[in-house]
Amino acid sequence: MDRPRITIFDTTLRDGEQSPGCSMNVQEKLRLAQQLDRLGVDVIEAGFPIASDGDFEAVQRIAASVRRPIIAGLARACTGDVDRAWQALQGAAHPRIHIFLATSDIHLKYKLRITREQCLEQARNAVRHAKSLCADVEFSPEDATRTDVAFLCQVVEAVIEAGATTVNIPDTVGYTMPEEYGQLIRTLHEKVAGIDKVVISSHCHNDLGLAVANSLAGVQNGARQVECTINGIGERAGNASLEEIVMAMRVRPDRYGYETAVASEHLFSSSQMLAEITRVPVQPNKAIIGRNAFAHEAGIHQDGMLKNPLTYEIMTPQSVGVPDSRLVLGKHSGRHALALRCEQLGHQFERRELDEIYRRFVVLADRIKKVQDSHLLELIQDVTSGMVSNPETAGGHSKRFPPATATLPYSRVASAAAGGISAGNSADGHPAHVAGSAGQAQVTIPFAEHHGEQEDYLWGV
Ligand code: KIV
Ligand code: ZN
Repeated sequence: MDRPRITIFDTTLRDGEQSPGCSMNVQEKLRLAQQLDRLGVDVIEAGFPIASDGDFEAVQRIAASVRRPIIAGLARACTGDVDRAWQALQGAAHPRIHIFLATSDIHLKYKLRITREQCLEQARNAVRHAKSLCADVEFSPEDATRTDVAFLCQVVEAVIEAGATTVNIPDTVGYTMPEEYGQLIRTLHEKVAGIDKVVISSHCHNDLGLAVANSLAGVQNGARQVECTINGIGERAGNASLEEIVMAMRVRPDRYGYETAVASEHLFSSSQMLAEITRVPVQPNKAIIGRNAFAHEAGIHQDGMLKNPLTYEIMTPQSVGVPDSRLVLGKHSGRHALALRCEQLGHQFERRELDEIYRRFVVLADRIKKVQDSHLLELIQDVTSGMVSNPETAGGHSKRFPPATATLPYSRVASAAAGGISAGNSADGHPAHVAGSAGQAQVTIPFAEHHGEQEDYLWGV
């Protein structure tokens, strides 16, 4: 059975662009709009045409060249704004005029200096005017979540009567809580006459880090459009992140029985393109598309991942377009992952050889956060060149392993670590005594007993 469709309204080019340092020129907006089209979003809010000539041109150019999705232009609730938006949207295959007017007493009193009655009238008139131009009209009562609920119901009813087809409920200042936002959407459904004729939309800001949770609560209570941005960019702390909304619904259909038309395999490239255009990097631990979102460093995790990715991954990197799951080699890594990386670099080792590589690796990783392939190759070379024939092990191994006190070339480690070596335990609890002298470091690591299958699990946690 088909699941209800959630309309994805992308506002990266409008609300997203309002975030500090994220402004884009017309060419850049056009390029991103084409990517959003590939991604499969339903609505692209291309800009705020009255705000500047650049914004007008961007909306106009996007409207003319991106034909599949709805293209929305923002307008305040006044004739001049609505006309300018409509002018910019002329060439669109599917135009939408999006009107907003604040409704909370704080905004009415201090910002707009109008009464509730005047607000109601202004909203109604602006929507009527827009409707005379364009069949698709969205209305947003700005600061809805701090608006008196009875008054909000009155405004929503008025704009539906005036012809709005979508009513968006913005948590403009990121103040609401998930249950509260869900309840608000439910109340509108229960109290507003004609609500079934329109699509209710969520638009949540992230000031308390709840934008995605609030949007999902909205969906669970009847919202059928979600407004969001790539990488969650937007005013102040940002908007709800598109990739998180889409993947939450995709990964948990048991909780959210809805679907979107987003081609999730384009999420990563969309995020990368935005970061490249704005030069605002994505935080490494950002869900879904951050550099570390699919990286596993802890030994236990790496071991589990290698045995079955389901142990630590709730979605595949490929499903969101991340090229490959990356096992980061660092001080928490285990031997299983190290052996695999060595193999990928063309080196296969028997157990005791790997022990030695691993011992040195732990010391190195303790000094530098991430062991790159180049470091590992140097280390392998050091270890293998230090191995000479050992009569004691003849018959067992063709190479002699250095004694428990090993010599690690200090200069290479130091250049990689950009810092000096100091004595102490390696962070995973393996005692590692390191004493530097004249460009060399003495590394003393007692041999450990093997513990069969448990070993990868216990080592390098
Ligand atoms: O956050 C907000 O209230 C807005 C409106 C213009 C929809 O962005
Ligand atoms: Zn907003």
